[in-house]
Amino acid sequence: MKKKKRCLIVYFSQWNTTESIAVEIAKGLKASRYDVQLHNLKGQNTIPDAGEFDLLGIGTPVYYYREPFNVSKYIQGLPPLNQKPAFVFLLHGSYPEDTFTSIWNSLRKKMQNLQDSIIQKEKIFIMNI
Ligand SMILES: Cc1cc2nc3c(=O)[nH]c(=O)nc-3n(C[C@H](O)[C@H](O)[C@H](O)COP(=O)(O)O)c2cc1C
Repeated sequence: MKKKKRCLIVYFSQWNTTESIAVEIAKGLKASRYDVQLHNLKGQNTIPDAGEFDLLGIGTPVYYYREPFNVSKYIQGLPPLNQKPAFVFLLHGSYPEDTFTSIWNSLRKKMQNLQDSIIQKEKIFIMNI
């Protein structure tokens, strides 16, 4: 039987909206036969090494016009991602400013040996309703 691919979704959620979207994304990936691990940076749990997964997802709210410090710290601490695909999802109110670009640019630094054409960039903007 074909081995399942593994996805790590790391997010920060203080008031659970980012978490609820992370859970929905995980459901979709599971339906596509991924094993998915979800980790909220809010907790004290140890985050597994992203290098051991086939796909990395990062979810964040916008707080005070940018991503929270723990999210940028997590991205900066990631190992080189080389050819690993990654996606980012962002929850915000009325003023997301350039938070998506800020996150995406720091994530790209982990992929600096890649040609742009290999990077799949998807904007997932979800407004609070
Ligand atoms: C303290 C605080 C600061 C916020 N700052 C912004 C902001 O600058 N721009 C924005 O668009 N939304 C802002 N929001 C809205 C959040 O991004 C939004 O409610 C998000 O869904 C919260 O995610 P969470 O429920 O996973 O914690 C802020 C919310 C809080 C509580």
